Amino acid sequence: MREQLSSRLGFLMLAAGSAVGLGNVWRFPYVVGRNGGAAFVVVYLAFLVLLGFPLLCAELGIGRGAGRSLAAALEALSPRRCSAVWARIGSVLAFGCFVLMIYYTDVAGWLLKYTADYMRGAPPADPSTAFGALTADDVSETLFMSVTVVVSALVCLCGVVKGVERATKCMMVTLLALLAVLAVRALSLPGAQEGLSFYLKPDWARFMEHPWSAVLDAMGQAFFTLSLGIGSMTICGSYVGEDHSLVKEAAFIIVIDTVVALLAGLVVFPACASFGVPYGEGPGLIFVALPKVFAQMSGGSFWGFLFFLFLSFAALTTVVAVFECLIAGLMDSFGVARWKSTAVVAVGVLALSLPCVLVEGILQWEDFAVSQIWLPMGALCQGFFVVNETYGWGWESFRVSVSVGHGFSMPQWMRWHMAIVVPILMVAIFVAGFMRFV
Ligand code: ALA
Repeated sequence: MREQLSSRLGFLMLAAGSAVGLGNVWRFPYVVGRNGGAAFVVVYLAFLVLLGFPLLCAELGIGRGAGRSLAAALEALSPRRCSAVWARIGSVLAFGCFVLMIYYTDVAGWLLKYTADYMRGAPPADPSTAFGALTADDVSETLFMSVTVVVSALVCLCGVVKGVERATKCMMVTLLALLAVLAVRALSLPGAQEGLSFYLKPDWARFMEHPWSAVLDAMGQAFFTLSLGIGSMTICGSYVGEDHSLVKEAAFIIVIDTVVALLAGLVVFPACASFGVPYGEGPGLIFVALPKVFAQMSGGSFWGFLFFLFLSFAALTTVVAVFECLIAGLMDSFGVARWKSTAVVAVGVLALSLPCVLVEGILQWEDFAVSQIWLPMGALCQGFFVVNETYGWGWESFRVSVSVGHGFSMPQWMRWHMAIVVPILMVAIFVAGFMRFV
């Protein structure tokens, strides 16, 4: 008998923990900084509603409808004559979780290293060079990446309720409390208003300097933050009962994820403005700009420790949820025991994270493969699966299934939105992602 989560809070924290991660606290502030502040945030929120919400309902619905992980769920819910094809598609999509993990654990390891340094009162002496030095130090990077993998695997080894649910619940509650404290501190810094107005006042002129690239960033960010398309939300759906409608739960998850991303911006921009540190640093914003801020702030080591602890928890909740997706996928598809499946995932991720640790530039390729190929392709397939009666689960079965429980039902008009608007936008992301890269 498949284990179920013990409470609704456990489900919401697991799904929100899977969504809340580096996408919210690392990627979101720097893509906002790069694309003109609040103008970008408005477009991003529109994509969350237009694409994120319906596709999150689809992912959760497939999981709860079948009570299995992605490949097994697609196989179980599809018409008999195409179930073998859907099982293969599901396996390919779920492999995206693996690719995500073989660079995500590397970045999570950097966060653990910064947390440890701030905790022992030894923050980076020169923030501008310290980050480059860390990424050039293969031994430290391997060590902290391995700690991330081993800790996350041990959590999953303890089972769904005693390991995954308990750990993500604790980390998410602590993370939300830390974020509130950090936001209050950042907003009370002198000169914080300038950063706040950059963040909250839309600057459309700046957005229009590179509008197409900003729109693509906004769409990519909406996918990345909800980890849509690769089955990590399907697994959350597979562990939940029918007390609450998944339409309502999807809305809750998106609200939690968005609040965390917006609050992360409320920490980063006022803090940078207060100490005259530029916002447009790109990916180094968190690892270079913020340590510069902490170096100038009174009690900087303490605030730096809280900040990197918050980031580490955000990353670890995602790693645990995605590991669980991989582990349960192997258990469902091959009937192996949890410990065997956990060992295979941990060893596989450890081994295949090494190229990202050792070779510069691999991380960008892997991130491109996941953000621009797996996530849109996966979401496109799942969107098709839930609206198509001939080859997929079919709209009526999907609509009835996600609507079961207290809360809103899936409206009928959403069928046309999912069948027409969503694929057009998805194909645009897919094609534009390629055009931008080649
Ligand atoms: N959803 C995960 C994140 O935002 C991948 O980091």
